[in-house]
Amino acid sequence: MTAAAALNLPEFDPADVTLNGVAFHETMRDLAAQSWLARIPLGYLTLDREAGEFFLRTRKATFPGQLIAELNGIDGGPLREEIDRNILHIDGADHQRLRNLLNPAFTPRAADRWRPAMRDILTSLVDKVRESGSTEFVETIAKPYPAMTIATVMGAPPADAMRLHEWSAWIQRQFDGPSLATQRDRIEQAVVEFYRWCDDLLAQRRTDPGDDLISTLIAVEAEGDRLSDVELVNLVLDVLIGGVDTTQSQLAHAMRLFAEHPDQWTLLGKDPELAARAVDEVLRHEPVTPFTARILVDDVTYRDVVFPAGTLVMVCSFTGNRDGTGPAEFDITADRPPGRLMTFGAGIHFCVGANLARAELEEALRILAIALPGVRLAGEPVLGTVQGIYGIERLPLAWDA
Ligand code: HEM
Repeated sequence: MTAAAALNLPEFDPADVTLNGVAFHETMRDLAAQSWLARIPLGYLTLDREAGEFFLRTRKATFPGQLIAELNGIDGGPLREEIDRNILHIDGADHQRLRNLLNPAFTPRAADRWRPAMRDILTSLVDKVRESGSTEFVETIAKPYPAMTIATVMGAPPADAMRLHEWSAWIQRQFDGPSLATQRDRIEQAVVEFYRWCDDLLAQRRTDPGDDLISTLIAVEAEGDRLSDVELVNLVLDVLIGGVDTTQSQLAHAMRLFAEHPDQWTLLGKDPELAARAVDEVLRHEPVTPFTARILVDDVTYRDVVFPAGTLVMVCSFTGNRDGTGPAEFDITADRPPGRLMTFGAGIHFCVGANLARAELEEALRILAIALPGVRLAGEPVLGTVQGIYGIERLPLAWDA
């Protein structure tokens, strides 16, 4: 048995906001080649899949959002209330109850139900730019598409989709320490605005229920002891906010990857049935959630290493996704073992929206591969940082109009 602190480990700083793109890939590849574990300023980072899944699944760990909040002096106010009530910060029986309420709305079949709406939304966005032969993809398609889709699924007015997008982008930064430290006021403002908007929406749906998730949750709330008022608002926030910035960023990275691999785009255009494999490959190759984290609530021994209670363990899905899955290159035809993706997490907090996100990405790629033949970069993409959600700020694309 060895204490983690006594190990001789490679070092890494996950808060380095200058690291993204090719340099990020190279740094992570080198680290994973050296060890399954790296030392980071606040704790440790797992680099292989098995270790990552172990720390995500152990009951002796919890998501460290409240710790990040405390480190940044967020000890009261609406943002702190939201952080405390976010489903990622709830464990045990309460978490199980909330997931049991959400899960039926997010099965693969439930996600399939929304595919026609997804196709309509995407087609209307593509039609606006198709003839021109070029676009800044993030602004015209990647941003509005998931926001409009999640608004439809939840029963929010489509006209509010872009406000949702804005709130999602800010509120998701609660998971990104450097942003929380420097942009707290803006994040706080987004939480306040979202709660106000959500109260109005819930009031409307209470009097005029529809065939949507908010109406379903209101009906559960009305049954009494299964969902409180505060829980309802926060579940709506978790889903609306969790389902926008993530899918937007993953779609933008997908198009960047295809623009950089034109042969793969041509393959997909010829056989759009490859879309599901293409989505898997994009999620594996460039996860927009390259890191997540846990804090240990008890001593944990793993691989003969003792990690004391209170240790922060970050988990790298980027390197985990590459562990035991064959050649590293982006290749939508590669034969890879199933079930090895870490992009959506693992254990009780496994992404509730994974099936919906996959369906959105599949529908988008299937339509785009036919509508935008010969996609290529029309300028340098402006990449975001790998903390929190790894997004793309600008992605100029051109195609054969
Ligand atoms: C490509 C798109 C997406 C990615 C990569 C992604 C990734 C993740 C990851 C990694 C986690 C677990 C974090 C952890 O355990 O530390 C998670 C949880 C979650 N995701 Fe997603 N997500 C995506 C799309 C969505 C969508 C579309 C929704 C909403 C419909 C959503 C809602 C949530 C919620 C509510 C949780 C918390 C679940 C819980 O605590 O039980 N996500 N997501």
